[in-house]
Amino acid sequence: MDEPEPPASHALIFRPVVEGDWPALTAILRQATAARDALTYDAELTDSQLRELWGASQRVLVAQAPDGAIAATAKIGRNQGGPGDHVATASFVVAPAWRRRGVGRQLCRHVLAWTRDAGFAAIQFNAVVASNVAAVNLWQSEGFQIVGRVPHAFCHPRLGFVDLLVMHCEISEGRQ
Ligand SMILES: CC(C)(COP(=O)(O)OP(=O)(O)OC[C@H]1O[C@@H](n2cnc3c(N)ncnc32)[C@H](O)[C@@H]1OP(=O)(O)O)[C@@H](O)C(=O)NCCC(=O)NCCS
Repeated sequence: MDEPEPPASHALIFRPVVEGDWPALTAILRQATAARDALTYDAELTDSQLRELWGASQRVLVAQAPDGAIAATAKIGRNQGGPGDHVATASFVVAPAWRRRGVGRQLCRHVLAWTRDAGFAAIQFNAVVASNVAAVNLWQSEGFQIVGRVPHAFCHPRLGFVDLLVMHCEISEGRQ
């Protein structure tokens, strides 16, 4: 029998993480780190280490389906301290079953809105894997520009050494 279609992505709720989300959230992160093709995290990290890393951010968002399943997560925080603390950074993972359904785009827009409301001037992604076409296309279509390229900084399991991109988006106008 065919798998039932998951609900449309517009039915998702985007909200801050709560305690009960972590088992599902770390399962999504574990899958993404095991793939070794998009995140600069060790594939061997345990659930508690993943929680510690992801949860240390200023804000963790989840996208929740009507049946309670967690479809995606993002973490947001300042990119640098002190004089660099007006620039935010973020990371995203959409669960494989939910990809290519508009969830990443919605999550990106929630992150941009949150960083704007929190007073950040810009958002910077430090390590977008150049071969991650889905991510590069998504960020560019949401206003991010490639401002830097670190040659051969990421060892991809099939492609070998590929570049890491620094991507940047201004989110408040008129800042000197
Ligand atoms: C990158 C990622 C967040 C995209 O999330 P998603 O929910 O699949 O993306 P969306 O469905 O919202 O797609 C938005 C846009 O991204 C681009 N995109 C998404 N998947 C794509 C793919 N497989 N190939 C090419 N472009 C793709 C398209 O431009 C798409 O717009 P369109 O549907 O109008 O063509 C998701 O693939 C993911 O979690 N990947 C693993 C972890 C990761 O890469 N995190 C980001 C690290 S920088």
